[in-house]
Amino acid sequence: MFEEYGELSTELYDFTKPIGHEIDGDLTFYLEQVKSATGLVLEAGVGTGRMLVPFAEKGIKIEGVDLSPFMLEKCQHHLNERKLEVKLYLQDLQALDLPKKYQMIIMPTGSFALLPTREMMLKSLTAFKHHLLPGGKLILDLLLPRDFQEGNSSTTTCELSDSTGIIFNSTSLNIDWEAQRTTELHRYEKWVKGQMVQTELSQFILSWYGIEEFKLILEKIGFKNCQVIWDYGQNSGAHATLTFIAEA
Ligand SMILES: C[S@@+](CC[C@H](N)C(=O)[O-])C[C@H]1O[C@@H](n2cnc3c(N)ncnc32)[C@H](O)[C@@H]1O
Repeated sequence: MFEEYGELSTELYDFTKPIGHEIDGDLTFYLEQVKSATGLVLEAGVGTGRMLVPFAEKGIKIEGVDLSPFMLEKCQHHLNERKLEVKLYLQDLQALDLPKKYQMIIMPTGSFALLPTREMMLKSLTAFKHHLLPGGKLILDLLLPRDFQEGNSSTTTCELSDSTGIIFNSTSLNIDWEAQRTTELHRYEKWVKGQMVQTELSQFILSWYGIEEFKLILEKIGFKNCQVIWDYGQNSGAHATLTFIAEA
């Protein structure tokens, strides 16, 4: 019934968050991190390349992995436009099997929260550990469901051109305190000259973890020297994004 990270979701993401678009200071923060890497970096859940493309343009040695062929196709398009050669892999993180090891793995912004079950989260972290060189760094963000309210619904219209637009509706369905996840229904409609030409329905699940809980999970998997940073170190008091930095 549902499709995650499909064609319309990719088109809308790329339109509303184009290459180099900053979300709450994430790009600036992650650029500083990847600049400090002494070897190859992997972006997990690379999406359209919003971050990877500008990083590659700055000479960062980086590769990307994602399970959405639509997202990767868009990312490849942006790389081709700029004549950048970057290796992209189509894989699910929970079964990650790449031919290399990395100095740094990053999973910025909300992407890690998209792993919908605890089992997938544990498999993905274990795979990250396996793909990091000794002393390599894992940097990822967690989100907390502070603003989630069951029943909330919002609709936005994005005009892609004079004749074409996407209407996006998000409805907050459920917060499961035991499983620690929220579920939203995302509905995309593409309209051309007044006719609806395409729709897409996504069950958008976000998982969260407590700070101490997540530190223990990382340690159990074998990560060390875990550091936690709020809001990309901006001291904004928003307490919206929680970044974990851990060593393999
Ligand atoms: C919100 S987008 C973020 C893209 C990019 N990192 C950015 O910051 O703009 C999340 C991406 O994670 C990918 N993703 C979600 N679950 C995944 C999984 N299990 N394995 C690989 N990629 C996944 C989605 O396909 C999507 O492209």
